[in-house]
Amino acid sequence: MKAIAMPVDRSTSAISIVSRGLALSPALGRGLGVTVLLAMLGTGTRVAIPILVQLIIDRGISDDGVDFGLVAILCLVSAVVVSLSAVSLRSAIRRLGMRSEEALYGLRVKLFEHIHGLSISYHNEEKKGALVARVTSDIETLGQFFSWGALAWLLDGSLMFVIAVIMLSYDWLLAIVALVVAAPLVYGFRRVQVRLVKSYEKARTLNGSYFAEAAEFVNGSDVLVAYGQRDAYAEKLLVTMRNRYKAQIRAGFFGALLFPIGELFSVLTVVAVSVMAIVRGPEAGLTLGAVVGFIFLTYRFLEPVAEFTEIIDNTQAAVAGLTRIIEVLDTPVGPPEPLDPRPLPAGALDITFSKVWFAYQSRPTTQDPDGSRGTGLDGTEENPFVVRNLGLEIPFGQHVAVIGSTGSGKTTLGRLVSRLVDPSSGTVSIGGVPLSDVRRDDLRSVLTFVPQEPFLFDGTILSNLQFVDATADKEMCLRVADQLGLDEWLRGLPDGLATRVGERGNDLSAGERQLVALFRSAIAAPRILVLDEATSAVDPLIEVRISRAFDVLAAGRTTIAIAHRLSTAMRADRILVMDAGVIVEDGTHDELVTRGGRYSSLYEAWVVATGG
Ligand SMILES: Nc1ncnc2c1ncn2[C@@H]1O[C@H](COP(=O)(O)OP(=O)(O)OP(=O)(O)O)[C@@H](O)[C@H]1O
Ligand SMILES: [Mg+2]
Repeated sequence: MKAIAMPVDRSTSAISIVSRGLALSPALGRGLGVTVLLAMLGTGTRVAIPILVQLIIDRGISDDGVDFGLVAILCLVSAVVVSLSAVSLRSAIRRLGMRSEEALYGLRVKLFEHIHGLSISYHNEEKKGALVARVTSDIETLGQFFSWGALAWLLDGSLMFVIAVIMLSYDWLLAIVALVVAAPLVYGFRRVQVRLVKSYEKARTLNGSYFAEAAEFVNGSDVLVAYGQRDAYAEKLLVTMRNRYKAQIRAGFFGALLFPIGELFSVLTVVAVSVMAIVRGPEAGLTLGAVVGFIFLTYRFLEPVAEFTEIIDNTQAAVAGLTRIIEVLDTPVGPPEPLDPRPLPAGALDITFSKVWFAYQSRPTTQDPDGSRGTGLDGTEENPFVVRNLGLEIPFGQHVAVIGSTGSGKTTLGRLVSRLVDPSSGTVSIGGVPLSDVRRDDLRSVLTFVPQEPFLFDGTILSNLQFVDATADKEMCLRVADQLGLDEWLRGLPDGLATRVGERGNDLSAGERQLVALFRSAIAAPRILVLDEATSAVDPLIEVRISRAFDVLAAGRTTIAIAHRLSTAMRADRILVMDAGVIVEDGTHDELVTRGGRYSSLYEAWVVATGG
């Protein structure tokens, strides 16, 4: 037997995607059978009308005149049938609508929870933002599908099924003629459809690039002008715009082809059916009413076919959206919760790094072109190790400062110890327990990470403090502010604790944002505090306030300060100097200065610069 290479079957993959979608949104499947039955009943009764018309023609009207009694009964039956159809269709539509809203709601919740939990090692915040935007529009597409495409499948699908059955039972020969003549229509539609989808896809992609380039052109206009690149960029933008225009025209061309094809084929089919009926004549037992009824049915049968082109487009968009949603849901989330969690010891919580290697996997690699999955291939050329074979012991209560040039891995070290990322290999432990065995909540209760660019929520300073501890009232916050030496700063603000911070905290300066974040960590009162100092310039007064608050907070805790200022480093018990993911120096300020390495030259330069 010859082996046949199987082409990738798009329909099966679409089916598997749809069944994944159903599994993800159990609401959709619930009572689906009843909904379909109701739709069948509704459409079935709709097609009963042509049959009733036939009966009226054949039985109610004869050469002897009109049989009013029979016609009246048939009209009454028609009225009942129409009402029944309306009621069952309405309830089918209502059921579909309710289930799909429920399903979309469930999907939204799942997606946002998932995106929120995505590991920083795969997704930086920017990428998460883009994902949220993408997924929002994908859900929107699904919503559009449910309000139209799915409904059409349900109603038109059951209509066509019911009609096909009736046509066959009416006169199988005529039915076959109708189906055979109409068949190329489906094929023709499909051909045009494929091209239409391709050109729409292209137009959509170009649309995306056009928006991105236009935004860059506007936002980066200063840079473009400064380097004399404005015209060149404008030219590039024009090319994209032209291509986008061409793609839209092409898509429009195929789109416009669909309707005439549909019309042509329905006329052809009706002609074929009529000719066949005439040729066979009354001898075949076909009454005039039966032929009229049959032609009615044929029209009814073909009506949805024309609509199907749009339905297919709508469905394809929905399947594509669903595919991306499933992809997002399949992307690994942040470090998993341990299956068999171990409690942290009550006493000293020493921190230990043992042979820790770490690589981000954010950048696409050849094995993972869209960068959405972790390939498990760490340390590739695209995603190199940024922490290398790190071994480190930090006894409980020690105040450590980490310094090093930009990109040397300091923030990554902070993320590893707070388990925002897991090592590619090696272990980070706290109190002798590997972090992978510690429940997330347990870790959060003993350790707080104040990031380089802390995020504040739109609201007041107080609401941003209460978000770590809802029980923290104004009095408690003011007390903590006193302890941290922040009372004066608070008094200087327009509304004290009630001062609004603006969206993302933008009404405050970068330094103040970090001050609020530090304040927030004091409310959480962790045993270990990791502070990633802001890189950007902080005004000197705020800087002093941050260091003072940090010193107060440091008492009785382990602190790791990722320092961008030598003054911070100098106050620490121990200084770690990082370079390219490796700790190259480790000791007290005095030790490192006498050793005459990197730290001592930094220090000398600083002494010269500040005239100290
Ligand atoms: N989310 C991320 N995805 C991919 N690469 C990242 C990510 N975050 C950091 N990196 C890369 O990892 C390396 C170490 O970054 P890290 O942020 O730890 O440096 P840093 O010492 O904190 O630098 P800085 O002084 O600028 O804050 C850099 O090469 C950086 O580009
Ligand atoms: Mg950093």
